[in-house]
Amino acid sequence: MQRSSDRWVRRTSARLVLLVAALFAVGGAILPGVVSAQSPYSTISPVTDQANDINDIYKLTFWLSLIVFVGVQIGIVYTVLSYRRRAEGERPEQIHGNKTLEIIWTIIPAIILLIIFIPTVRTIYAHDDQVNNPDLVVEVYGKQWWWEVHYPSEDGESKIVTANEIHVPQGKRVVFHLYTNNVIHSFWVPQLSGKMDLIPGHENKLAIDTDTPGYFFGQCAEYCGDSHALMRFKVIVEPEEQFLAWQDAWLAGPQQASGDLAGGDIAAVPQSMALCMTCHEINGVESVAGGNAVPDLPEELDAARTFGPNLSLLGCRTTLAAGTLRNTPENLASWLHDPEGIKPGNYMGTVITPGSLTDEQIQEIVTYLESLQPEEGCGEIPVQPGVTEQVQVQDPD
Ligand code: CUA
Repeated sequence: MQRSSDRWVRRTSARLVLLVAALFAVGGAILPGVVSAQSPYSTISPVTDQANDINDIYKLTFWLSLIVFVGVQIGIVYTVLSYRRRAEGERPEQIHGNKTLEIIWTIIPAIILLIIFIPTVRTIYAHDDQVNNPDLVVEVYGKQWWWEVHYPSEDGESKIVTANEIHVPQGKRVVFHLYTNNVIHSFWVPQLSGKMDLIPGHENKLAIDTDTPGYFFGQCAEYCGDSHALMRFKVIVEPEEQFLAWQDAWLAGPQQASGDLAGGDIAAVPQSMALCMTCHEINGVESVAGGNAVPDLPEELDAARTFGPNLSLLGCRTTLAAGTLRNTPENLASWLHDPEGIKPGNYMGTVITPGSLTDEQIQEIVTYLESLQPEEGCGEIPVQPGVTEQVQVQDPD
């Protein structure tokens, strides 16, 4: 009787172990196909040294957790089967207060935590050091709910002020200086680095080494209000000469004339846009936005200048409303018709509601804004190796 039950225990344990092993094998085979560079918000397809360091710690933690998990499961199965009650009224041996066991199960987790802790702290300090050696500094201001991007020039002044699409040169160390004057946001481009908070009254820095060209999707990772989930952005890593051409195009401003426009002159903002220009700026176009500088940031931080994004070269942006819509004339018209419906809680929706602008006015504004392109046209967006066309131009939902 005893012998046949022992055989049953051995057979059942062996089957369970086989089952668990089979599950892991199947899971391991499927996972890489499901989660890859095709998922733009994937942390396990890093393209910078920094994201790679973080991924290494993640892998270390994952494998240690897996060993613990499998060990505990095997221990449970073994104990349940080996020490099950065999006779009516049988009581197991009482081992409460076993000092050796308690020391062992205190020391093992302590060692595991140490194995994770040491590389984690080393990586944190190493990444912290990197922000002191930038090739390029880009200032990013968290707004509700979009990102204002400044490129300081040598004299410290931001000559280029843009939004939501951050162009950076390939093969450089780019250090982002992160500010906000409203609530806490978090700057996160999973394939480029970890998360870094933007905190009012405090300057945070984040370094990335841009080796792979392409565009990388980012997302605010700290709940910041109604449209937190729609606070998206992109980092566009492009060959240096392409980046410099983009910079030059920005400094030159939009083309002076466009055949698409009624008057043909870019400097003449359509009358229907008078209200827009109280919050937005367009380079090379006289601003009526004098009174809307954001007052809370100290002068030396080159405080974010306007309530709404700078619209210069809007015709070249790939998305509208901080990555919420693809930049097409139809989407821009929908946005102008009902901003609140597209992006709940945004400031523009408090001024422009359905009916504020007539269809004719909307068409006029769309034509004008989409014509805000450089004389020589918009630069190409680099293609990211290993990522399909569909992801490159994916429609945000
Ligand atoms: Cu900004 Cu969430």
